[in-house]
This record gives sequence, C-alpha cells and structure tokens, in this order.
Amino acid sequence: MISIKGLYKQFDQLEVLKGIDLEVEKGKVVVVIGPSGSGKTTLLRCVNVLETPTKGVLTIAGQTLDFSKNVSKKSIASFRRLTGMVFQNYNLFPHKTALENVMEGPIIVKGEDKAKARKKAQELLEKVGLGDKIDDYPSRLSGGQKQRVGIARAMAMEPEVMLFDEPTSALDPELVGEVLKVMKDLAREGMTMMVVTHEMRFARDAADEVMFMDGGVVVERNKPNEIFSNPKEERTKRFLNMIM
Ligand SMILES: Nc1ncnc2c1ncn2[C@@H]1O[C@H](COP(=O)(O)OP(=O)(O)OP(=O)(O)O)[C@@H](O)[C@H]1O
Ligand SMILES: [Mg+2]
Repeated sequence: MISIKGLYKQFDQLEVLKGIDLEVEKGKVVVVIGPSGSGKTTLLRCVNVLETPTKGVLTIAGQTLDFSKNVSKKSIASFRRLTGMVFQNYNLFPHKTALENVMEGPIIVKGEDKAKARKKAQELLEKVGLGDKIDDYPSRLSGGQKQRVGIARAMAMEPEVMLFDEPTSALDPELVGEVLKVMKDLAREGMTMMVVTHEMRFARDAADEVMFMDGGVVVERNKPNEIFSNPKEERTKRFLNMIM
C-alpha cells in the first residue's frame, strides 16, 4: 500500500532524511519511534507531500511520485488526497464547528455535495464518540475531543492511508485513552496507518511493526514484541531504556 524508496530530505545544508526505505502492506500499522530531531515528522510530512523530498520515490495505492524527476503540482495534489494527516495540535479551524471542520475538506477539495458531506461528517463524528458535540466550536472541546474531530476530519477525505504525528502528546494523561481507542478501532477496521507516538502500549497493542529512526535513517524495524524485548542495535537499546 505504501512504498518509500531512497527517500532524502534536505533543509538548506541540513540533511534530515538520509535514504529511508519502507514498505507498508494494506491494513498494516507501523509505529515510528525515535529521539527528537531524528526526522519522524519530516518523514510523515514527506509522505503527505507537505514537504517535497529532495530525492526518492513514493508510491501509495498504485500512484507514484518520483522526486528525481519534475513532479507537477497536479500530481502532488492528487497524491496528497491518498493520505489523511492527524497533527499533534489538531489544526482545527477555530471559527468552524466540529461538523463544519469535518465537512470542509470533502466540499472544498473534492467538490462533494453539501448534504452528502454533512451526512458523512455526522456519521464520522458519531463514530469517534462525538455525536453530541457536532455543533460545538473547538474552543468548547477538550483536547481529546478536538483530536477526535481531527481524526474524523482526516477520515472524511476517505484516504487510503492515515498518518498520525504524536496525536496524543499534547493531551492530559486522562484524555489519551479515548484518542488511542479511536485509533485502535481504525486499525481493527483495516486502515493502513503510520503512527509517530511515544505510547508504547499502543505500539504493543496495535502495531504490526515498530520502526526506530535516528539521525534520519531507519536503525531497526521489527514486530513490537521483538523490538521491545530483544532490540538488536545498541542505539535502539539505549533509546528504549530511556523511554520505557
Ligand atoms: N522546515 C524546516 N526547516 C529547517 N529545518 C527543519 C525543518 N523542519 C524540520 N527541520 C529539522 O529537521 C530535523 C528533524 O526534524 P523533525 O521535526 O522531523 O524531527 P522529529 O523526529 O519529528 O522530532 P520530535 O520528536 O522533536 O518531533 C530537526 O533537526 C529539525 O530542526
Ligand atoms: Mg516530530
């Protein structure tokens, strides 16, 4: 479903991604871990083409972008629609209700009919447990509720793949569980997911694979049980010792 080949990203003189290769099969969940500055966010932003990779080939659901060639704006826009992104800080529109936040993308980007978009948004908000909050503005929602709106909003675009960048790290501890539950439900329903998170419980329960990044490279990838109980690389051991 996702194929990343030889992905590089450079900001000015700083090379942040140094040749990332990754395959994620349809319906699988990959959790990405690694120290601050290792390139996790940059990797997700490249997959979503919010950043343009310096080099490399991305394929999602049969669509390919090869960044060693010229890539048109149109092909980027169509590629971006394959992925839904959930951000640490929700990025909701403050002047729109929960429902309007979820409806916006399908109407503006996909030109969907308003009534249809409304119905779908309502269903998605019910699914994430916010059926009674659809007319509330973000300022009236808790962090966990805002993040669940963020997930519903990404899902409304009917992406092939969902990308999560530390979706629970801005939340009070008691609100983390409700967001992780929604993510686990999505995983169970067969959504293909890349998740940057420090929630090792989530990684254990929901990930098919955990990928440890450091310094812009993939140091080690394995099944959660393997990598947590039997990390092979020194750098992985040191990192896991620090966070677990
Ligand atoms: N737009 C940018 N311009 C210049 N440098 C950037 C930009 N975005 C990220 N970087 C640099 O790229 C490196 C990797 O950043 P990135 O945000 O991908 O790390 P991360 O692994 O997500 O870290 P964290 O765990 O703190 O979120 C950092 O050194 C960062 O300063
Ligand atoms: Mg980050």
